[in-house]
Amino acid sequence: MNTLDDVDVKGRKVILRTDINLPVEDGHPNKTVRFDRYMETIQELSDRGAKTLVVAHQGRPERDDFISLEEHVEMVSEELGQDTVFINSFFGSELDEEFENLEKGEVALLENIRLLSEELESASSEQHSKDLFIENLAEKADLYVNDAFSVAHRAHASVMGFEPLLESIAGRVMQQELENCRKIREELEEPLLVLGGEKPSDIIGVIEELVEKTDKILLGGIPGELSLIIKGNNLGEKREWIEKNGLDEEKETLERLLDNHGDKIIVPVDVETGQSSKKPGKIGGEEMVWDIGRETASNYAEEIKNAETVLMKGPMGAFDQGHGNGTRKIVEAIAESEGFTVLGGGHTSSLVQRFGHSLDDFSHVSIAGGAFVRFMSGEELPAVKSLEKYS
Ligand code: 3PG
Repeated sequence: MNTLDDVDVKGRKVILRTDINLPVEDGHPNKTVRFDRYMETIQELSDRGAKTLVVAHQGRPERDDFISLEEHVEMVSEELGQDTVFINSFFGSELDEEFENLEKGEVALLENIRLLSEELESASSEQHSKDLFIENLAEKADLYVNDAFSVAHRAHASVMGFEPLLESIAGRVMQQELENCRKIREELEEPLLVLGGEKPSDIIGVIEELVEKTDKILLGGIPGELSLIIKGNNLGEKREWIEKNGLDEEKETLERLLDNHGDKIIVPVDVETGQSSKKPGKIGGEEMVWDIGRETASNYAEEIKNAETVLMKGPMGAFDQGHGNGTRKIVEAIAESEGFTVLGGGHTSSLVQRFGHSLDDFSHVSIAGGAFVRFMSGEELPAVKSLEKYS
C-alpha cells in the first residue's frame, strides 16, 4: 500500500478522507486524541504544499451528534494557525471554485458528508466510483489520500469510491494504525475483553470471533444494558431510548450469544440511575440508566487486575453527559495493570487524558472503535481492502 512517503504532493489537489467524528456535548463537538492524531496528516499535507480538500463526517442522521462541521472548521483553523475554507455544498460552482482556488498549503473542509444520502450506502469501490458526487470531485483532484482508519469498516462512498478514479494512497493515521493493529492482533492471546460504547453492532463480531479464545467478556455501555433488557429487566426509560436510537437491532444475535456463552459473558450486577447504584430489577419506569453501578465497576476492576491481557472498547456509560464514574474506574484499573493493555474507541482514547492518564500507561491506544474491534477479530475492512487493491 502506498503512503505519503511515496508521493510528491506539492501543488497537487488532494482529496483527504479523514475522521474527525467527535463526541458532541450540548450540541458542540469536543476535541479528542482522535482529532489531534488526524490533524497531523492535515498539517503534513499543508506543510508539504498540497491543496487539500478534507472530506469527513460527524454522527449519523437522526442522532444527536449529527451536526454541521462548522465548528470543526474553526478547530482545524486554530490547530493549523491559518484560515480553513468551509464549503457547504457538495455540487456546483462554489465547490468547484473553492477547490480550484486553493493555494499551496491551503486547506478546505467540506460539510458533513453524511448529509449526502449516497454516502451511507454500502457498495463496492467500483459501484461507488459511479456516484455523481465521487465522479464530479475526482475529476477536479490529482490525488486521493485515505486516512480514515476509524471508518474503514464502512463500505461508504467517500472511503471507497475515489480509488478506481484517482491515484490513491494511505494517510499517516491509516498507515500507523494498520501497522500497530496488525502487530497487536498477532500478540493478542486470551484477552480479557471489556466491551461497552454505544453500538452493540460494533462488538457482536468480536464476541463471536474471540469468545472461544477468552475466559471472560465484561459488558458495559449500551451492550451491557441491552443484555440486561434481554435478561428480562425493564431499565426504565433507557429501554425506549435504546429502541428509539435503533441500538437494539442486534438484539437477537446478542441473545443467542448470551444463551450459548452465559458463563463467559458477564453483565452488570448494578447500574447508575443518576441518584444511586441500583440492581437492574429495581429500576422505576421513569428512571434513566446512565452508567454501570459501583459494585459492577469494582468487580470489573478486580478482573482487570488479575488479567494478563486486556482489550477494552467503548466507555461503560454516558461519560459525555456527566456519568463517567464507571468508565473512570475501569480505565484506571487498566492503566495500573502490568499486563498487555489495548484501548480502542474514538471516545475511549480521549478519556485516557480526561481521567489524568497518559497514552504511555497503555500498550496501545487506537483512535478507532468499530474498525478497531473488527480488525482485532480478524474481519477484513472494506476500505483497507480497496486501498490495498488500488494504491
Ligand atoms: C466511529 O466513530 O467509529 C467512526 O467515525 C464511524 O462512525 P459510525 O459508526 O457512525 O459509522
